[in-house]
Amino acid sequence: MATLTPSRSLPTTKYLDQLEAYVRDRHPRSLAGIVEARLNDPARFEEIAETFMEWAVAVRGEAAIGEMVDSFVRFTTSVNMSQVRYERAGHYENKTFEDCLQSLYTEKDEMDDYLWGVYLTNFLWAHHTEIILFFTERYLKRLDDVQTLIEIAPGHGGWGAYALKHLPQTRLVGYDIAPSSIEIATQIMNAAGFANRARYELKDALNLEVVEANSADAVICNFLIEHLERPEKLMAVINHLLKPGQKAFLTGALTAAQIDHIYEFRYESELVKLAEDNGLRVLETFSGGPRRTLPNAKFLPRSMALIMQKRQNDIY
Ligand SMILES: C[S@@+](CC[C@H](N)C(=O)[O-])C[C@H]1O[C@@H](n2cnc3c(N)ncnc32)[C@H](O)[C@@H]1O
Repeated sequence: MATLTPSRSLPTTKYLDQLEAYVRDRHPRSLAGIVEARLNDPARFEEIAETFMEWAVAVRGEAAIGEMVDSFVRFTTSVNMSQVRYERAGHYENKTFEDCLQSLYTEKDEMDDYLWGVYLTNFLWAHHTEIILFFTERYLKRLDDVQTLIEIAPGHGGWGAYALKHLPQTRLVGYDIAPSSIEIATQIMNAAGFANRARYELKDALNLEVVEANSADAVICNFLIEHLERPEKLMAVINHLLKPGQKAFLTGALTAAQIDHIYEFRYESELVKLAEDNGLRVLETFSGGPRRTLPNAKFLPRSMALIMQKRQNDIY
């Protein structure tokens, strides 16, 4: 059987040990995927996982690990079921943004459960571990003198808190459309000790022209673009917010169904083109998918990350 923890358990894997014990006991079929995630880079995985879980326990208490794992398994199962329906239908379920707003984003219990599930996918899905490593190594560590970081659609806030951990001089402003996101992201920032460097506002990402133009030294926006009916507008907003020459990090899902995925990207080049059409130069990309997919699948679910730079003076 797959093993998540090494035989010599290190003090730094306290929460991972709890997570493994819980998964082994309650959700044994989820263990193999978590082992895959850890094998990407065991030391870094442990650091990210322990950090995220420490924050969550500070917010929710010791029961957080088990409760989050339950949310994660519910979320992953729902994603897998959506993918099965997508394979049959050949397109995403016919949701509009308004449907998602009414059925998910403003439904507190459902949205809380969803956000805590998503929180764990950032490192427990193997291809998402790769993305957070890419985010850290290729984006965060190469940013220079970032005073203002804007996070669009922080959800649970984990990405932003992890960014502030690496950028001690930086202040974050986050905008999300869901009250649950604002609440949980604020709690995570408090737990991480960054309350005085972060604030969140309830706002639609597509109405951020009201925020001062050229005001951000960096922008991050993870897993929002596929939730939008007009994804090009998001790229325009990122352009609006960034100072010329500064960099953004964006992730999106391709041929990966989920109850609230509206815009179906089929090719990596579509995201690149949207960025380029909106004044952003694409510096680096990463695209990855789950190691195991449905038998005879027509669609390979992928997650793609882009590091983009706002063009200066319209120079190509
Ligand atoms: C899948 S979650 C992503 C959370 C987090 N960024 C991550 O990658 O784990 C999508 C988030 O986008 C938010 N969202 C959806 N539509 C939005 C919009 N039009 N403006 C702002 N936030 C939006 C949702 O409330 C939710 O917090």
